[in-house]
Amino acid sequence: MSTSFSVNPLSDGFGVEINGVDLSSCGPEVHREVVDVFHRHGIMVVRDQNLTPEAQMEFSRAFGTPETNARLEYTYPGIPEIYVISNKVVDGRKIGDVDAGQGWHTDSSFLAEPVMCTMLYAMEVPPEGSDTLMADLCAAWNALPPERREALDGLQVQHSWRALMEMKGVAVDPDDDRLPDVVHPMVRTHPADGRKALWVSTGTTRGVVGMPNPEGLELLNELVEFATQDRFIYRHKWRVGDVLIWDNRCTLHTGTRFDVTKYQRHVHRTWIKGDRPT
Ligand code: SIN
Repeated sequence: MSTSFSVNPLSDGFGVEINGVDLSSCGPEVHREVVDVFHRHGIMVVRDQNLTPEAQMEFSRAFGTPETNARLEYTYPGIPEIYVISNKVVDGRKIGDVDAGQGWHTDSSFLAEPVMCTMLYAMEVPPEGSDTLMADLCAAWNALPPERREALDGLQVQHSWRALMEMKGVAVDPDDDRLPDVVHPMVRTHPADGRKALWVSTGTTRGVVGMPNPEGLELLNELVEFATQDRFIYRHKWRVGDVLIWDNRCTLHTGTRFDVTKYQRHVHRTWIKGDRPT
């Protein structure tokens, strides 16, 4: 490996920061080296980038197959795999989704094959607020007492795109059956190294299979609360030019609010296709 960039830990055992690479000119071999670093850490920030949408797509393809978001109204013109997260208004038109990603979740868990990783590239960030928080679900799993792990391992969770739309107040055609509810294991095994993750989330979940509500939803809320304690969290404070990438198979994340009347935030997001959780 001919690594020319520096890799440093973000916080104990969880995530790394890369400096000294220009992702838009470094070429495919260095892209592959950066992807290797990502696969060893689960969260990665690459600092000081200046990416055109095409350059972000090229870097995204180094991770796998980029996936288009089910909501098309905020995708980048001509590149539907780029989702615009922004409070900017251009020619009287909102060009992005302001509220994407509020609340602890793992991306697109409502799909049979949820996205493997998510990439956010920040072009404008507010001086305060809008931090992105990441929780280490493998650390959370390992911190549970053995008898609790035994009780949870094997449970299945119902994930639902409709539940998410209901929560967001977005109307869905009752005959639209493109994204039916799916069932995934509560404890997910990482395909790369066999680590287990407490793969729970809020917003997209309807309950635990075989457990009546409210108990099922209460259990999920309790576990999300457990997994999102400060000791499992990395808080990303954005700088312009940051590219933040996380592995959805072993992390939870949430966006946080900022003063949209005072500041602008403009971010391009890509998703990389994943496989069925086991
Ligand atoms: C997301 O969850 O996709 C976005 C989070 C953020 O904008 O901080």
